[in-house]
Amino acid sequence: MSSLLSQLSPSITNMIRLDHTHVLTAFHQYEVGSPDRLKKGLVDNVCLAIEIHAQLEEEIFYPAMRVVADNEHLRKSTPEHDEMRGLISRLRNMPVTDPAYDDTFFELMRHVMHHVADEETLLLPAAERLIPDQLQDLGAQMTKRRLELAGPRAPELASSMARSMSMGTLAAMGSAALAGAFLLTRNRHGDRLGAARRRFNRSA
Ligand SMILES: [Fe+2]
Ligand SMILES: [Fe+2]
Repeated sequence: MSSLLSQLSPSITNMIRLDHTHVLTAFHQYEVGSPDRLKKGLVDNVCLAIEIHAQLEEEIFYPAMRVVADNEHLRKSTPEHDEMRGLISRLRNMPVTDPAYDDTFFELMRHVMHHVADEETLLLPAAERLIPDQLQDLGAQMTKRRLELAGPRAPELASSMARSMSMGTLAAMGSAALAGAFLLTRNRHGDRLGAARRRFNRSA
């Protein structure tokens, strides 16, 4: 991986935390009584962000962890992603007016929150303990792959972002594509990612 990309990228653990924060923040923008168009835009945006995030973890983060650890949390991670994919597929094939739409989205939210809690309290600290010298390079690999995955889906991202924008700028930030823009503004000598996350959490 190029040393420049390595220097500019956040560590993989901070990048995963930032993705989680964006998706969880978007979840909280969802209101049952909002106009259907806004709800659909938000759901489409969140689903796409989850899909890209899950694929990045499965291609880059989990394999790196499997080299140094073998535990239940690691083994159940991909099956849990598959459960989320099943719910995402149901949402995509369901009109927003379906009486089950809200409950299906809330079920997805519960799955994601449970999964994120395990990753943030178990897997990410384990990575920082077991492979600290690989985190920056893995972050660079994830950045490169994210751009590859998000590129072909740019029209989909732009459309869902525009439709969900009225539910708050933060919801739109759930888009995985924005991580690339974030990188461009990151000061290599300071960890703005950590500072942004702390500000996010204090204001939540
Ligand atoms: Fe995951
Ligand atoms: Fe994750």
